[in-house]
Amino acid sequence: MDKLERLRETLERCDEVILNGLLMRDQIIEDIMAYKGSNGLPILQPEQETKQVKWLESELDGKRHREEVKDVFACIWDNSKRIQARNLFNHNIVLIGFMGAGKSTISKYLSAMFAMEVIEMDQVIAQREGMSISDIFEVHGERYFRDAETDLLIEMQAKRNMVISCGGGTPMRECNVAEMKKNGRVVLLSAKPETIYERVKDSHDRPLIEDNKNVPFISELMEKRREKYTAAADIVIQTDGKNELQICEELIWRLMEMDGKVK
Ligand code: S3P
Repeated sequence: MDKLERLRETLERCDEVILNGLLMRDQIIEDIMAYKGSNGLPILQPEQETKQVKWLESELDGKRHREEVKDVFACIWDNSKRIQARNLFNHNIVLIGFMGAGKSTISKYLSAMFAMEVIEMDQVIAQREGMSISDIFEVHGERYFRDAETDLLIEMQAKRNMVISCGGGTPMRECNVAEMKKNGRVVLLSAKPETIYERVKDSHDRPLIEDNKNVPFISELMEKRREKYTAAADIVIQTDGKNELQICEELIWRLMEMDGKVK
């Protein structure tokens, strides 16, 4: 056997070790999820990820091919997150709620925790139209924007395991709610008008409240929408005074309960 053949054989053995390690790892991920679920332990443990990153950094300290190995681990960790997500939900998560209720923030957090793709509806529509939401309202009118929302929801039905962050007005149309429910669980994020005001007061991309950024106006518009929001929601999460981790943890458990995965 010449040297090249021996090297190739050794490489094959390395691949086998990696393959078996990965298969074992994925199984352990599922076992951990099952254990957490049946023992009521927190599903999200971001400190665990920080620990893994630190461990890898120290293991790779001074080693060659550091960046390449880190790249592979990033991929392994992301895939583990996807396995967890698929284990928890095999549908899309559709976030609804008033402007400033935290839809975008929670989408980002869920995406970081579960490597789920996020569709930020406002952003996608603005990108496609090549103008801001405020400009779409001004140039084409609200109805045009609402039609774009409906079209996008229909388009999203082909996808799975996504986080869809809706615009605040999306659930106002009954047909939109029907489209959301075809492929997703609808989660309503709610907050007090005072909390909403604090969150939106410094931004200028919400034409419906731009000239009326005050608690009474927000409160009145919220009240007008309350019935439709509530009717659309599969679950409601109160966000006042909670951080992203607490909100997402609650959201996951409520979805698991809804799917009969826990009692
Ligand atoms: C709207 C909410 C906005 C955006 C548009 C209209 C609404 O989205 O879709 O300005 O009718 O409540 P956010 O809730 O993400 O701010």
